[in-house]
Amino acid sequence: MATLRLGDKAPNFTAQTSEGEIDFYDFLGDGWGILFSHPADYTPVCTTELGTVAKYKDEFLKRNAKVMALSVDGIESHKGWINDINETQNTSVNFPIIADEDRKIANLYDMIHPNADDTLTVRSVYVIAPDKTIKLMITYPASTGRNFDELIRVLDSLQLTAYHKVATPANWKHGDEVVISPAVSNEDAKNIFTKGFKEVKPYLRLTPQPNLN
Ligand code: BEZ
Repeated sequence: MATLRLGDKAPNFTAQTSEGEIDFYDFLGDGWGILFSHPADYTPVCTTELGTVAKYKDEFLKRNAKVMALSVDGIESHKGWINDINETQNTSVNFPIIADEDRKIANLYDMIHPNADDTLTVRSVYVIAPDKTIKLMITYPASTGRNFDELIRVLDSLQLTAYHKVATPANWKHGDEVVISPAVSNEDAKNIFTKGFKEVKPYLRLTPQPNLN
């Protein structure tokens, strides 16, 4: 298996999930996708993560993004665990969880790092664009729960780049100024960025976030 890298096509698969059999590409349609792995069912950090993601449903919807989780346990285990997540996190899991007992998809997406653990997955996140290319990969150890505000932030950044030819500077957050791509000339920038831009250096040009009123 070749290691996946940014810009690669996200491999398609068919999986048994808590919501039935799903073809990944059909599930994503022409929107954005997030595939994220969990070491195992009935574990504390994962329980809080899945509850948190369920509560962010509207944020993902606003960004035309669908979420699919993966854990290496079976369907019946997932169903029981979902009840626990709903009860303890005061939510309702509203996305499919892949039952990857044979680790086919975990291996396809390089989610098992044998020197960390040779059977359970690490905490991987893949953000997949509408053209099915991989735009972002994040890998956390099992012991650290992910920051889903950060995931929303990078999704916003990726979408600004995809739709508005801008990049986002260090610690950027929604509403802050953004950076004009070096590929855009000043001449073109005047037409594209109608709110104007500041040229701090020829290679460092700032403009208000374009998709805000
Ligand atoms: C957890 O989700 O809490 C967890 C899973 C595997 C190892 C450590 C923590």
